[in-house]
Amino acid sequence: MYLKSINLENFRNYSNQYIEFINGINLFVGNNAQGKTNIIEAIYVCSFGKSYRTTKDIELLKFNEEFLRIKLDYNKKDYDKEIEVFINNLNKKIIKENGVKISKIADHVEELPIVIFSPDSLDIVKGAPGKRRMFIDMICCQLSKSYLLTHQEYMKCLKLKNNMLKKDEIDKDYILVLHEKMSDCIEKIVKFRTEVIEKLLIKAKEIHKKLTDSKEEINVEYVTDFMNLDKQEIKKYLDEHLYIDILRKSSIKGIQRDDINIYINNLEVGKYGSQGQNRTALLTLKLADFEVLKDEKEEVPILLLDDIMSELDSNRINFLLDYIEGYQSVITTTDASFVKNVENIKISKVLNGTLKKL
Ligand SMILES: Nc1ncnc2c1ncn2[C@@H]1O[C@H](COP(=O)(O)OP(=O)(O)OP(=O)(O)O)[C@@H](O)[C@H]1O
Ligand SMILES: [Mg+2]
Repeated sequence: MYLKSINLENFRNYSNQYIEFINGINLFVGNNAQGKTNIIEAIYVCSFGKSYRTTKDIELLKFNEEFLRIKLDYNKKDYDKEIEVFINNLNKKIIKENGVKISKIADHVEELPIVIFSPDSLDIVKGAPGKRRMFIDMICCQLSKSYLLTHQEYMKCLKLKNNMLKKDEIDKDYILVLHEKMSDCIEKIVKFRTEVIEKLLIKAKEIHKKLTDSKEEINVEYVTDFMNLDKQEIKKYLDEHLYIDILRKSSIKGIQRDDINIYINNLEVGKYGSQGQNRTALLTLKLADFEVLKDEKEEVPILLLDDIMSELDSNRINFLLDYIEGYQSVITTTDASFVKNVENIKISKVLNGTLKKL
């Protein structure tokens, strides 16, 4: 799969900009606040139907405009395809695949696999457990529509349960019925997360070995209360903890509490790793993410690298440049001096919401 072009109409600081991609490295160079990340964000919106920078679609709309439209043309299994995202200032959103409206985002999320790597991604290693869950869940959703649907179902039940726990008079039977559905979802989610983390770990070990000249070993461990439990056992566990939920007025057990521990040479990297080790671990995980999607989907994902070159040393940059050769990537940077002897690259200059090919 590869992207052919994108057209941004009233998206962030773009009025009307057509951008053609090559099936290689697409490098966008420019000073701060010119619109480089906005290009990456627009591609992300086409893949996930929403941004990773905001939950408010309306913020994507260029100031004082009534609507935005993104059109992304891509080639998949020798077919030319198009995704169109339309959002207006009344918060109406329409996503179309080849001109046909998509009613549920779950029907779309497997379509355009991407791996995004930005300075914020360091939260996966250093941040709260939620960031790591989101990292794994993004891979799971891109691999399986049914995972996304199960996750949505679970979150819906969790919200209903938490609402009930906040009431003065709690209907326990209602919560016990919710636990039925939730245990069914938990069983499926834990099984899928476990499988994905196992696959990710195999890839990560190989990559990390190469990245560190075999000096370091990475490990990724899935932490959950529900490992190898079946639906009945999960239900029993949730029911048994209900009295604490009631005391605390919120759900203390569930897959919303899972975590993923990341170790380098048996030490938790987020806690004990140096800055360089944290970044290397992240690079490993992102490339492992790319490998898993590539293998499982039999489709090459698009690599979106937002302003990360300045964060990496020359060894890591060279490793990355060697790695991405032969794949399609979209890279942004303020300083293109790392580009030497790189083939199959298109460099464009971004200046205040307009583009110039260099
Ligand atoms: N809704 C919007 N309408 C118009 N302009 C916007 C909107 N949202 C953001 N911008 C503008 O877009 C610019 C930021 O774009 P972007 O984040 O892509 O910058 P960048 O080139 O990646 O910069 P940096 O190198 O600092 O990361 C800012 O000037 C900001 O004011
Ligand atoms: Mg940026």
